[in-house]
Amino acid sequence: MHLASVGISKFCFLFSLAFCGLLLLLIPALQPPTRQVDQPQPRPHTQPARLGSPQRVRGVFREMDSTTGTTPGGKGGQLSSFRSRDPLDFKDIFIAVKTTRKYHKSRLELLIQTWVSQAKEQTYIFTDGEDSELQRRTGVNLINTNCSAAHTRQALCCKMSVEYDKFIESQKKWFCHVDDDNYVILPSLRGLLSSYHHSQDVYLGRPSLDHPIEAAERVKSDGSVSVKFWFATGGAGFCISRGLALKMSPWASLGNFISTAEKIRLPDDCTIGYIIEALLEVTLTHTHLFHSHLENLQKLPTDTVLEQVTLSFGGFENRRNVVSIVGGFSLADDPTRFKTVHCLLYPDTNWCPKPKHSHIN
Ligand SMILES: *[C@@H]1O[C@H](CO)[C@@H](O)[C@H](O)[C@H]1NC(C)=O
Repeated sequence: MHLASVGISKFCFLFSLAFCGLLLLLIPALQPPTRQVDQPQPRPHTQPARLGSPQRVRGVFREMDSTTGTTPGGKGGQLSSFRSRDPLDFKDIFIAVKTTRKYHKSRLELLIQTWVSQAKEQTYIFTDGEDSELQRRTGVNLINTNCSAAHTRQALCCKMSVEYDKFIESQKKWFCHVDDDNYVILPSLRGLLSSYHHSQDVYLGRPSLDHPIEAAERVKSDGSVSVKFWFATGGAGFCISRGLALKMSPWASLGNFISTAEKIRLPDDCTIGYIIEALLEVTLTHTHLFHSHLENLQKLPTDTVLEQVTLSFGGFENRRNVVSIVGGFSLADDPTRFKTVHCLLYPDTNWCPKPKHSHIN
């Protein structure tokens, strides 16, 4: 009897252990699957810059990879049809670099030596003069827009118009525009764009102002009413999904961009914002991962520099406005810090300083 009761209590103990184990296994299965995905949109006013870092974006991407395909609609439905089986290929990104003939030597050569060399196929350089020597020597896609070399609204809009048309023609999934003083951190760019789907309406960039701008509505009405809209500053770079770019066509394709900009009398990047936010009513996704020379770049924490999407340097009369990063080149040898950033990202590049092994021998 005594032995039997011990046997029973042992059995009960083991049975409850097994039951608890089963419960533990069931708990995750009972939870709604939608909990796994969070809206990754970096919002400037509510989140510190680090939260919008590619690490977080990559984290979210990994979580999405583990889901079974369907994802819930996020804020504004931006992510509602994200598909993790469709990871973004580098060749699906169209990167437009806007430059001018007089900066081919001083700015463009540095970009070609650094990040453009890693993305030659998908980078298109839009300029305003012939330079067949540069094209032959470096093998880059150099497009003479035949636009004026003046730094006027008309000339800049003329280039943006050609960029837009070439992107549409390219059949690529993402349009990203940068200036000739931007370094594009390609792995971060791909990580960021992978959080979205190109068929959705996505407009990603950094506003240069902390408020929307206001302009007289002269496209849909006679200019007696005004509209408020955000725009991504062109100097920091911005990206637009193909889905959204196609919707912009009535106001952006085949020279229409120039007439739209003329109607509202605003620069190229504002005109993009106007078409997207005011005419198409799609909101700009604000991100702090893009940087222009208008910011104090030294303020960017050193340990987050390589997580950004674009960097810049200088600015009006401030040649010392560069990201603070330590690496193979001194400030004198690499005043923009682009070479240093590049060698940290791609240490095997043949012109990068080799790590010193001073204690060996
Ligand atoms: C610029 O002009 C040249 C010569 O007329 C022409 O071949 C080229 O296609 C033009 N570029 C663009 C972008 O229209």
